[in-house]
Amino acid sequence: MDDLKAKYLGLISGAGSEAALEELRVQAVGKKGEISLQMRELGKMTPEERQVMGPKLNALKNEINSALAAKKAALSDAALDERLKAEWLDVTLPVRPQRQGSIHPVSQVWEECTAIFADMGFAVAEGPQVETDWYNFDALNIPGHHPARAEMDTFYMHRAEGDDLPPHVLRTHTSPVQIRSMEATGAPTRIICPGRVYRADYDQTHTPMFHQVEGLAIDRDISMANLKWVLEEFFSAYFGTKVKTRFRASHFPFTEPSAEVDIQCSWENGTVKVGEGDGWLEVLGSGMVHPKVLQAGGIDPNEWQGFAFGMGIDRIAMLKYGIPDLRAFFDSDLRWLRHYGFSALQVPTIRGGV
Ligand code: PHE
Repeated sequence: MDDLKAKYLGLISGAGSEAALEELRVQAVGKKGEISLQMRELGKMTPEERQVMGPKLNALKNEINSALAAKKAALSDAALDERLKAEWLDVTLPVRPQRQGSIHPVSQVWEECTAIFADMGFAVAEGPQVETDWYNFDALNIPGHHPARAEMDTFYMHRAEGDDLPPHVLRTHTSPVQIRSMEATGAPTRIICPGRVYRADYDQTHTPMFHQVEGLAIDRDISMANLKWVLEEFFSAYFGTKVKTRFRASHFPFTEPSAEVDIQCSWENGTVKVGEGDGWLEVLGSGMVHPKVLQAGGIDPNEWQGFAFGMGIDRIAMLKYGIPDLRAFFDSDLRWLRHYGFSALQVPTIRGGV
């Protein structure tokens, strides 16, 4: 037994790997291992012999098992040490440069508009970009033969033969959301609707898709004076400086009276500065909601009245952030986006305390 013990303890301490160690385990204390075979011999011994040999064999088996366990732990520690020596990481290295996306100027201005009008009590409304011609035109007092209908350069949705659903268009303005909001909330109401609109037009100042923000306020005694105040508050907050407005009489089928609104600006060496000088720049259409439009929205024009306006988001983005070409907004040129984009953490620059 002393020989067995000396043999296996020697082999175990010399084992070079966990695999070799496992082989030794099988060889010594496995089912058919040398020590296990010895234990089977106990059966053939006299009770006296067994009383001496039994405990001795058990003790040997235990000793071998603990030697195996200890060696196994030592081997795996050694393996870890090897790995730790071979693999290393310099945690002081700077990370690989990673490009960060930016907020598109349109998104930024969209958010700024929403924040400013929210301060004045306007909720955000939405409507579909594929609109029925009733919401886009008829309900807004633009009947089939009306010249405005042709002037809008409308995209009509394809119709399959035999399709007798009402014609659908890509909305040419955000004004159909006026009707949808009136239907949804009735009067009084105060909403803005920022969104995409579409017209078949393309040159330096027109793209087939662009953005508008619609405004609508309906109550018992809303007037043009309220409209003017709201717009002047808006522009002053948005441009961060007092901005004068100029109302010019105009015509829209859905407002009466109607006005186009200019904001005060100066032109110097080809650059525009809003809120100073004696130049004017047209930025929106507006007016008092036409009684027929209130009616189409299910609101009694004898009880309620309101103002509406529609403003180009891209336009006012160009003005505030000095962006010269409208078409670049939609080119997805990464260099342009990096230059004119905003950090996601950048808080919109709007004047507080409206
Ligand atoms: N919908 C008009 C346009 O797209 C703008 C407008 C909106 C005018 C609301 C008056 C009232 O030009």
